[in-house]
Amino acid sequence: MTPDPIRILVLHGPNLNWLGRRETDIYGTETLDQINEALICRAEELGAVLKVFQSNHEGSLIDKIQEESDWAEAIVINPGALTHYSIALRDALKAYGKPVVEVHLSNIYQREDFRHRSVIAAVCVGQIAGFGKDSYLLGLTAAVSLAQRARTSVSKK
Ligand code: DQA
Repeated sequence: MTPDPIRILVLHGPNLNWLGRRETDIYGTETLDQINEALICRAEELGAVLKVFQSNHEGSLIDKIQEESDWAEAIVINPGALTHYSIALRDALKAYGKPVVEVHLSNIYQREDFRHRSVIAAVCVGQIAGFGKDSYLLGLTAAVSLAQRARTSVSKK
């Protein structure tokens, strides 16, 4: 019997809807739709299904985490600028209680000082930054494997 697909929530924070036209020297020319298509393809290869959501609003991202908390077995999130200051988003991810992977297109540690600090990282299993679109694909691979491991450990109990 084929196992149920792993369920992953992918979240994109503020201004990521402008990918392809925003600071293309830093973020590249690919649009968010193109990144999402690549993620959906990779998810299929990995035996996973995705729900994908972008918002420019902190509260909408938090609402989505709460709404999908039972459905999603892991989250991949690029919090955009919220990375650097949103304690509310951090608290929501912590309360979610399942694996979270933080991703960034750019290497935030090579950029302005204010981008060097992530208030989100401490509630994530790990962070992937600096690989452009591949940060998301690597993040998805990590999230699927974490969710698979969580299923296996539950079924062993
Ligand atoms: C970003 C990095 C953030 O500092 C920035 O505010 C973004 C995008 C990235 O993917 O590299 O919006 O999260």
